[in-house]
Amino acid sequence: MVDYRFSYLLTALILIFFLWVHSVLGVEADPGEGKVVYEMKCLTCHGPKGKGDGPTGKFLMPPPGNLTTAGAKSAEELRNTIRNGRAGTGMPPFRGILSEKEIEDVLAYVRTLAN
Ligand code: HEC
Repeated sequence: MVDYRFSYLLTALILIFFLWVHSVLGVEADPGEGKVVYEMKCLTCHGPKGKGDGPTGKFLMPPPGNLTTAGAKSAEELRNTIRNGRAGTGMPPFRGILSEKEIEDVLAYVRTLAN
């Protein structure tokens, strides 16, 4: 006689596995989506290529960070600046304004600007 309880358990485990894979992939940073966030929230200061020469950025003192050289900084440092802003500069905190996912996406995009 076949023990059906085992196949139910197996089906449940497979389902849980797929849900887990989905949730892990779902939170993966997407630089493509980050570009959209960047263009809406960051470009005006940091400029189209991240050089700090956006229309608003030109008038800031100190000028916006040059993101093309920010690659030397760790993801953690950059994430921290994006989340908390930088006191004494025009860099605003984006925690609560952008979702955690958007922060990861824009961070991934910023890292593509660095060279
Ligand atoms: C109102 C203008 C403004 C906006 C909008 C802005 N920034 Fe900034 N950003 C600055 C300024 C000013 C600095 C500080 C430069 C310094 O520390 O000398 C800075 C610094 C940074 C740094 C640190 C660079 C480094 O080398 O350490 C990162 C990363 C950064 N911004 C990312 C972003 C991202 C991502 C966005 C959009 C979600 C954004 N900024 C929006 C003005 C702005």
